[in-house]
Amino acid sequence: MSSEFSESREKKDGSFIRTRRTRSSESIRNLVRENRLHPENFVYPFFVVEGEGVKEEIQSMPGQFQMSVDNLLEGCREVIECKIPAVILFGIPNSKDDEATEAYSEKGIIQIAIKAIKEKFPDLCVITDVCLCEYMNHGHCGVVEGNRIVNDSTLELLSKTALSHVVAGADMVAPSDMMDGRIGHIREILDSNGFNETPIMSYASKYASAFYGPFRVAAESAPAFGDRSTYQMDPANSREAIREVAIDIQEGADIILVKPALPYLDVLSKVRSKFDIPVAAYNVSGEYAMLVAAMKSGWLDPEKAFMESLVSIRRAGADFIITYFAKDASRRLLGDFETPLSWM
Ligand code: PBG
Repeated sequence: MSSEFSESREKKDGSFIRTRRTRSSESIRNLVRENRLHPENFVYPFFVVEGEGVKEEIQSMPGQFQMSVDNLLEGCREVIECKIPAVILFGIPNSKDDEATEAYSEKGIIQIAIKAIKEKFPDLCVITDVCLCEYMNHGHCGVVEGNRIVNDSTLELLSKTALSHVVAGADMVAPSDMMDGRIGHIREILDSNGFNETPIMSYASKYASAFYGPFRVAAESAPAFGDRSTYQMDPANSREAIREVAIDIQEGADIILVKPALPYLDVLSKVRSKFDIPVAAYNVSGEYAMLVAAMKSGWLDPEKAFMESLVSIRRAGADFIITYFAKDASRRLLGDFETPLSWM
């Protein structure tokens, strides 16, 4: 026992520290595992379109679909079978304008979808993305004047939209627009209409990210001019994320979201350690597309790569994850290795 290696690990009594002992069998590894995935940690996103019988694969997101309400209900049944407790809905209206009328219309696609789901599956938690970009003819998340995205008049439309979702039966609203003051504004409107028990999940630290590219194809919501960098955050910043989260908590957010997830795990970890309210992460479309491309082509193990990326998001501190992988991951976690992965 005279090599430098063993001396450095030798304790006074001559025994050795060996970290491999707790890795020596599967049962011991299971015992000491620090983080776990569970279907109950997932939220599954849906893209809802008007019409009937529509189920169209999104070219930039293999295995994900634009669906009409009838197929959405079938999709929700699958989600429930997978033991996933919640879905988040994105609407793609037939007509768009410069006031996002369809976002808060009583007969809007999302409002219809919420009612249909809650009627059939009352226990499934329905979260709605509250944003205007899918409903605006210019594709921006707010009201446009000239080439500016105007903050305060946008708040009125966002609050109207959030209220219409809750009136239709949504269990939770998730504003993703990144306008200043929207959490407080929405909270006030919900409370004054008797919905003081409906939680708000704020996309509090949402970056101006290239990783939303495939989503914008799916949601038909790419901005017609410029980009979103006057409202979404600069990818180079992390202190600013803490500030955004603190402000949203002060305004009344019940859950806060970090988005994207994988390229921003440092931000997620900081937010987790700084605040005690539930923290979620959005494993966005580009993270999905990137992994699926590599898994489909055989460059990454299709059974392992996505599970590892999901557990890394939990390890960084997310209480739950919004992810397009939710159904596939849940099936594997529940012991179903027969059902083919949805993108393969
Ligand atoms: C709406 C919204 C976007 C995403 C969620 N809500 C797109 C954007 O901000 O451009 C992205 C989700 C994803 O990429 O999976 N504003």
